[in-house]
Amino acid sequence: MDDVPGCSLSRRDVLIAGAGTAAATVVEAADREPAMSNATTSRLTLDVNGQAHTVDVDTRTTLLDLLREQLHLTGTKKGCDHGQCGACTVLLDGRRINSCLMLAVMAPGAKVTTIEGLGTPQKLHPLQAAFVAHDGYQCGYCTPGQICSAVGMLDELKHGVPSHVTADLAAKPLLSADELRERMSGNICRCGAYSNIAEAITSVAKEAA
Ligand code: FES
Ligand code: FES
Repeated sequence: MDDVPGCSLSRRDVLIAGAGTAAATVVEAADREPAMSNATTSRLTLDVNGQAHTVDVDTRTTLLDLLREQLHLTGTKKGCDHGQCGACTVLLDGRRINSCLMLAVMAPGAKVTTIEGLGTPQKLHPLQAAFVAHDGYQCGYCTPGQICSAVGMLDELKHGVPSHVTADLAAKPLLSADELRERMSGNICRCGAYSNIAEAITSVAKEAA
């Protein structure tokens, strides 16, 4: 009964060999462990929402994870973590970026603005107020990214930055429906609240014009 059919090894031999292989795998994994956990950290200082923070970060940490996990600013959302949804949009030195695509160590000395830094419940940023007034969200998960992105977009328009659909590169672009769609195309809303989001942004753009 102990013999493996068609094989000269006994069942006991096979079990011993299997246990040996498993042990070797564990030893191999343990050998690799120091390399895996021997992460390099780096100290950096950056300004987040007007407050200086000096942090030690694993050099593989994204700006998004630094904001959420170390600074506990969870207003900035993680959607895809691959630069495809815009949920993680923040302003870096005034320009909108996907914080999931940037390593924290790439932003020493930078001035970062997250949704928490735009306004407060008592004193909303005009875009935050407009999103509320125009019902520009359903679940709200994309909303911080939409609002930060819209802040950056309106600033780009103010400075005459053209987009892919700007017909006249010499003229200051206006916020047409096409321009808005193109410029906000990096911010996905899975609830499909696009028409209300567009109304909210357009109302602020009109007031600013
Ligand atoms: Fe950064 Fe989706 S989480 S783009
Ligand atoms: Fe739900 Fe945009 S409001 S994803």
